[in-house]
Amino acid sequence: MRIVCLLSGSGTNLGALIEAQQRRQLGNAKLVGVFSNVLDAHGLQRARDANIATEALSHRAFSTREDFDRAVIQRVSPWQPDLIVLAGFMRIMSPVFVAHYHGRLINIHPSLLPKYRGLDTHRRALEAGDTEAGATVHWVTEELDGGDIIDQIRVPIEPNDTVDRLRERVLQAEHVLYPRVIRALSLSEKAS
Ligand code: GAR
Repeated sequence: MRIVCLLSGSGTNLGALIEAQQRRQLGNAKLVGVFSNVLDAHGLQRARDANIATEALSHRAFSTREDFDRAVIQRVSPWQPDLIVLAGFMRIMSPVFVAHYHGRLINIHPSLLPKYRGLDTHRRALEAGDTEAGATVHWVTEELDGGDIIDQIRVPIEPNDTVDRLRERVLQAEHVLYPRVIRALSLSEKAS
């Protein structure tokens, strides 16, 4: 199963996928390309260090979301992805992109969906007085963070947590969750 990862920033989730692949813990999945809309995203360097092909294209050069998404499809399609993995890709995809990759597009989101779609999930969980937080991997549909849930991981919220401490705890859990999901999908009928 050919995996293409889209990211905008640090790419620690990509790093976890690379490590899992190196330890042969990613089932039949193989990372074949990494795309970023941020030209100097650290995640691109992680990919290059692991000898994974990269492409980068800034959305700022495009006047509409659809035009940018069509350009992303052009960059990504030569890699012939079976599964597109959004890992900190901080763009809302247009219906053009979502329809093109329907059933082949997944995202990781730092909350226990359906709670806290969108941004600022950790602050919102703390302000609500929640006792647990976590992360969700879900299929991407046109509805923001609204597609079917594939898997989740939970972490406790400690009494004196800060946003930064909670973010870090959730991120560490994401690094367990995403490889687990991709391995499972690669071994299942649906995405292989
Ligand atoms: C992760 O926490 C991911 O869940 C979140 O961005 C972070 C990326 O970290 N994604 C979203 O908020 C998507 N709306 P990383 O670049 O270190 O993998």
